Amino acid sequence: MSLHVLVLVGSLRAGSTNAQLADAAIAHLPAGVDGTVFARLAELPHYSEDLDHDDSLPEVARDLREVVADADAVLLVSPEYNGSLPGVLKNAVDWVSRPRGAAAIAGKPAAVIGASGSPRGAQWARDDGVKVLKVAGAAPLEDTVGVGSAFQAFHDGRLLDSELDGALRTLVTDLVDAAQRTSDSDRPAA
Ligand SMILES: Cc1cc2nc3c(=O)[nH]c(=O)nc-3n(C[C@H](O)[C@H](O)[C@H](O)COP(=O)(O)O)c2cc1C
Repeated sequence: MSLHVLVLVGSLRAGSTNAQLADAAIAHLPAGVDGTVFARLAELPHYSEDLDHDDSLPEVARDLREVVADADAVLLVSPEYNGSLPGVLKNAVDWVSRPRGAAAIAGKPAAVIGASGSPRGAQWARDDGVKVLKVAGAAPLEDTVGVGSAFQAFHDGRLLDSELDGALRTLVTDLVDAAQRTSDSDRPAA
């Protein structure tokens, strides 16, 4: 089994708790599955249909579409900004949801996790993440994992709460299982 999970982190902040959560999730990937954070979301222009043509497509948008299309699964890691996803993450989903009929995100197994300063663990952002992924044509897991009081939740890149870390491991395993099923069903019959 060789699978690849692409991770999109919605905080651009140095020292981001969501970046730490992304690392904790990647650490739970089983052998044979690798995970990469797409590190160029800050470069991604706001989506515009005027830019979305072969001759005007920004290179970073083309690259994002390529890595999403090549990934077996996508993991959104989201802080909560004003009760929803931060614009940077919504913008990324918008880019990979087009062109209609050939979108990189179409049918892609996906999951949403998030960390926020409040005890609710970015619940609204996670809920909106699942909704937006569905509308964009992906196949997100309904379950999400949220880390509340996030500024106290990590030590050395690990989640201090072992129960929460177990829930994260379960979600990551479920995502990999979904990716494996999709990969198996895409393979031509022998
Ligand atoms: C513009 C803005 C809006 C925010 N809105 C919320 C919010 O609605 N709910 C919440 O729990 N935290 C909110 N926060 C605090 C974030 O939870 C916190 O900054 C975030 O978790 C930090 O994530 P990071 O460590 O990955 O950067 C907001 C922060 C910013 C900057």
